[in-house]
Amino acid sequence: MDLTDIASSDISWHTMHVDKLSRAKQKNQKAAVLWLTGLSASGKSTIASMLERRLHSNGSHTYVLDGDNVRFGLNRDLGFSDRDRVENIRRVAEVARLMVDAGLLVIVSFISPFRVDRDAARELFDETEFIEVFVETPIAECVRRDPKGLYARALRGEIKNFTGLDSPYEVPESPEIRLDTVGHSVEKTVERVEVWLKERGFLND
Ligand SMILES: Nc1ncnc2c1ncn2[C@@H]1O[C@H](COP(=O)(O)OP(=O)(O)O)[C@@H](O)[C@H]1O
Ligand SMILES: [Mg+2]
Repeated sequence: MDLTDIASSDISWHTMHVDKLSRAKQKNQKAAVLWLTGLSASGKSTIASMLERRLHSNGSHTYVLDGDNVRFGLNRDLGFSDRDRVENIRRVAEVARLMVDAGLLVIVSFISPFRVDRDAARELFDETEFIEVFVETPIAECVRRDPKGLYARALRGEIKNFTGLDSPYEVPESPEIRLDTVGHSVEKTVERVEVWLKERGFLND
């Protein structure tokens, strides 16, 4: 436990009788976080939603933390400045850590454009618990899809700090999974993640 940046020095960790492993075992699964990163419109939310549906219907205990949705609640006080993006990721990573501690398979779908923030998130987890999934859709295809009309607005100058346009996206260097979504159906894309998880014992029998 890193105590260097904790605001109060008058606290200490209380170890609970039931631990992460027993919680996950009760659910007949291995707990982990699937961290979906990629440009806006790359397919993160679509993949997260379909993946959760598949895992859930096969008896896994799951939760999706979606960038936009979390900004309606926990992160409603944060905007899109570099500083706020960092805090946005820090909070969701900590929530994901609590959920992994609860024994869940957590799917995080956040643009998470900065490598240093994704690496800081990874640091919160055991080595096999953090699965970085790069949703590798080229910007031209994202602009073409533009399901929420955000690129059109950003290109007209109506949205500032838009990732991929006037704010950088730092490509993951060694993600556990890369998903090429161009020319592949959502079903096929999700199936690839499922197979990956199954081969490594994350899904219950
Ligand atoms: N293989 C694929 N995987 C995910 N999305 C895809 C795929 N092929 C096409 N799409 C489309 O791309 C768009 C992705 O939008 P969305 O999931 O909201 O992106 P994000 O959450 O990354 O901003 C959707 O309209 C989806 O139907
Ligand atoms: Mg989304």
